[in-house]
Amino acid sequence: MSQDTVIGIIGGHGWMGQSLGTALLERNVVPADQLVVSSRSGKGEAYRDWPKVRCVKDNRELAALADVIVLSVRPQDLGSIDIEAGDNLVISLLAMASSQEISNKVGSNRVVRAMPNAAAEIRRAYFPWHASQQVSEADKQLVQALLESCGTARELPTERDLDYLTALSGAGPAYPALLAQSMLEHAKSMGLPHDIALEAVMQTLVGGSLLLEKIGTDPGDMVERLISYNGTTAKGLQTMIDGGIHQAIHRGLDAAHRAARGSR
Ligand SMILES: NC(=O)c1ccc[n+]([C@@H]2O[C@H](COP(=O)([O-])OP(=O)(O)OC[C@H]3O[C@@H](n4cnc5c(N)ncnc54)[C@H](OP(=O)(O)O)[C@@H]3O)[C@@H](O)[C@H]2O)c1
Repeated sequence: MSQDTVIGIIGGHGWMGQSLGTALLERNVVPADQLVVSSRSGKGEAYRDWPKVRCVKDNRELAALADVIVLSVRPQDLGSIDIEAGDNLVISLLAMASSQEISNKVGSNRVVRAMPNAAAEIRRAYFPWHASQQVSEADKQLVQALLESCGTARELPTERDLDYLTALSGAGPAYPALLAQSMLEHAKSMGLPHDIALEAVMQTLVGGSLLLEKIGTDPGDMVERLISYNGTTAKGLQTMIDGGIHQAIHRGLDAAHRAARGSR
């Protein structure tokens, strides 16, 4: 990244915009005086959490200041973005909107689509991205450096893959939360006090995930190993599998994927 590259985040006070902006500062990827953020509602001054960051209400002002523009508004607000990005690099975090739609909207062909998730807040996001043809190798290196401030960033070979991962990794805590909710309901129905049930569920999910990450094993191998172990867990796993847990998860991911793909 050239030393004076200015990054502009449209929607920079929102959940994802703020996570990315604060990660860029925290990791010293971008100095505060080279970051500019916008939102429609107020905060048109230096934002209290980021004292030296320039905050504007006018997206055209942001576009004039920034070399790289990050779009971090909700998909339904894309219509309200009225900028001319010229030939600047544009990184869209929007679910559902294709690179072509973004390009048509902002007027630049140098478009990257990236899909964050809520774990960006704790710098543990999985942040896949896909670049359109006009994006250079130097641009790609810059995108990777910016996005990996939030966790793990990964370039994808096709935009189709990004639509798929919108449904999977873009969901962030959603699917673990569903599993946790179900386990918590069950533990409480068995008479455990709420606090202990919650602690047990969270420590099991977090500890189990960290262990899987550390040993790097295929999750299917772990399931097989525990079924072969033939203890109490095997009974639980086999009953869940026989009850159609895989099919339910696959149907859920299919539905989210259809929504992410829209009419494409
Ligand atoms: N949150 C997630 O877990 C998640 C996961 C994957 C992908 N994403 C994607 O990330 C994008 C941002 O989502 P989010 O969760 O961060 O949404 P959010 O918290 O609602 O933030 C969006 C921000 O955009 C601002 N905004 C809306 N229209 C604007 C405009 N015309 N000009 C300037 N600012 C504008 C809003 O502020 P004002 O209303 O004050 O303008 C708000 O601060 C979405 O497209 C979503 O698909 C989010």
